[in-house]
Amino acid sequence: MKKILLLIIFSFTMSFSQTYRDPNANIEDRIHDLLSKMTLEEKIGQMQQKNLDEMNENVLAEVKAGKVGSFLNAGNIQNIISLQKAALNSRLGIPLIIGRDVIHGYKTVLPIPLAQAATWNPELVRKGAEIAAIEAKEEGINWTFSPMLDISRDPRWGRIAESLGEDPYLSSVLGVAMIEGFQGKSLNSKNSIAACGKHYVGYGATEGGRDYNTTLIPESELRNIYLKPFQAVSENGIATFMSAFNDLNGVPTSANSFTLKTILRDEWKFDGFVVSDWGAISELIPHGFAKDGKEAAYKAINAGVNMEMVSQHYAYNLRNLINEGKVDINWIDKMVGDILRIKFKLGLFENPLPQIPEESTILSDFHKQIAKESAIESMVLLQNTDNFLPLKSDIKSVAIIGSLADSQIDQMGCWNVEGKAKDVITPLSAIKSEFGDNIQINYCKGYENPRSSSKDYFEKAKQIVEKSDAAIVFVGEDYLLTGESHSRAFINLPGIQEDLVLELAKTNKPIVLVILSGRPLTFGSLTNAVKSILFSWHPGTMSGPAISDILFGKVSPSGKLPVTFPRSEGQIPLYYNHKNTGRPPADNQLGRKIGTPENPDGFASYYLDVDFTPAYYFGFGLSYTKFVYSDLQLSRNVITNDDKIDVSVKVTNSGNFEAKETVQLYIRDLVGSLTRPVKELKGFKKINLKPGESQIVRFEISVHDLKFYDINMNYVAEPGEFHLFVGSSSNKYDLLQAKFELK
Ligand code: NOJ
Repeated sequence: MKKILLLIIFSFTMSFSQTYRDPNANIEDRIHDLLSKMTLEEKIGQMQQKNLDEMNENVLAEVKAGKVGSFLNAGNIQNIISLQKAALNSRLGIPLIIGRDVIHGYKTVLPIPLAQAATWNPELVRKGAEIAAIEAKEEGINWTFSPMLDISRDPRWGRIAESLGEDPYLSSVLGVAMIEGFQGKSLNSKNSIAACGKHYVGYGATEGGRDYNTTLIPESELRNIYLKPFQAVSENGIATFMSAFNDLNGVPTSANSFTLKTILRDEWKFDGFVVSDWGAISELIPHGFAKDGKEAAYKAINAGVNMEMVSQHYAYNLRNLINEGKVDINWIDKMVGDILRIKFKLGLFENPLPQIPEESTILSDFHKQIAKESAIESMVLLQNTDNFLPLKSDIKSVAIIGSLADSQIDQMGCWNVEGKAKDVITPLSAIKSEFGDNIQINYCKGYENPRSSSKDYFEKAKQIVEKSDAAIVFVGEDYLLTGESHSRAFINLPGIQEDLVLELAKTNKPIVLVILSGRPLTFGSLTNAVKSILFSWHPGTMSGPAISDILFGKVSPSGKLPVTFPRSEGQIPLYYNHKNTGRPPADNQLGRKIGTPENPDGFASYYLDVDFTPAYYFGFGLSYTKFVYSDLQLSRNVITNDDKIDVSVKVTNSGNFEAKETVQLYIRDLVGSLTRPVKELKGFKKINLKPGESQIVRFEISVHDLKFYDINMNYVAEPGEFHLFVGSSSNKYDLLQAKFELK
């Protein structure tokens, strides 16, 4: 009797226990407790993410009824507070996770991600994500849909702007730096927000660079290239992933149990959650993978997509699918548990409402300083004939041409969701305010907008250049030409910009080209017409001060390309870590110019009408100084499984400008059971050297760095000969070379 009584008391207390509300309880116990109290409707509610189209009583009522687990685009902080309060007033008081595309900064806009990749500076990238998180969190956002980790080898694809470039190693290192910036030391720290690795996976391999298109990626390529950065952030504790839009080898990624279950959960042991991309579960229908919404829900949930963004096939169909035995309730518990785990880890149950700081951090001087440093380090000097840059003191008047020099919105680039154009300092205004007292600044917009076809401003622009000592001509893409669903078949300068530069060149005045863009562009016809080319990407809020500091020599450019620049679209895809083929072209097959030669010679893998080399190599970027590489040394030339090789190289600043340099290390595995790339980046270090200063830069290569997924998908390092290269770009003429052997 006593026992029964105790049991009744125990069950009674258990059913009223509030373990899930106890911040000191173990998170798994909290999840278990909360799941045990939830109705099926409430569980399905947690799996629904809604876009806040309009704030009204109906939305609040839905939240209060436990029908929404997350919002994106929830608008201002007042909306977020109201939504969270409604969630807290729901039966179990489960807080919402509030998502937003905090892609490159928040209100302080950083350079686009591709530009940040050009910094090759993980610490700066980390800081950028950190200040973005601080600003976003201040306004109630606790989850960003970033970083985008899609390896991008096609500059026609508009979303290359959001990527970290073409290389799996660089993308991994910088992707990890970003999540460390967003998520901080712990997800529940004051300034942390959850990160989301996207778009899982292969989206960047989209056919022909057409957005949302089909991807066909052999498993070895998937594992050795496309999955790498996702694996890196998974191993470093990323909270969430976003499944993508693309069809991967016939199975859309938002219903792909191989990538979502086998790889992500079984192999990598990821225990956060996966949100679908916007409507991606609905898109299983036009993909031809599901006949209706019910089948789409069935396939997506069983593949392991925890949360549905915007479309509502889970909400409408999961109950029936469970009743029909097509979806197991235990699987629903696992899917919901993953979402709750992140909510607990974020500390949302303890601190559901935004904590407004006494003093706002938004657009603070410190944040702008980080944005400026990031912009400076991202810009890549592609050409500097006669060391024309930095502009010298004998220049007393400068013509600034091009409406991109003064268009605030275009400095921000794509995904400037919270950035305000009014907060941007343009190059024209920065140069005027910094140098306007000493140098005469003459401005003409040159073109109405980057895409316009009118030559109305040509004459005026030319006159202005005639009467100036030098011209700085701003060309490139406006912000609307890049980003999601903004692919281009031609990646040249839009509109009449090329004609404008050629026209201005007729003045014989020295011209500096500043190119703003969200992707690599082709501009080969202009290289002889201008002295210098600074590729500045879309630099963000602090574009003007960054460009001005570089042009006038306050700082040397130090960006290096995170992606190969082709000479023409016909070469795409063109990337540095390609395979050698059986017929690699030889150096004496270089030098083909546009136009088919009369006597094509050789049967090698090249074009008859364009050099097989790129316009600019991956890793390339000039400086105002010269760096000399010497004394490449390896601590050993033969290694076995447990050994490491210490690699050292001496880098000397032999010029007279203090500057930063990114020292790059590549390897080549000469023979493999699967053919291996001609080069693979395995390390890099960004250093700062004063004029005349030298530094010994050290790397360590272990057997782990030599591993790859072989034909049986075993992760192995195969014995044999390896080449090792260290230098300033992936171009073989910029590299010192050594050899070693794995026994
Ligand atoms: C669609 C985009 O593909 C994705 O990157 C983004 O995060 C979502 N929309 C939400 O805005």
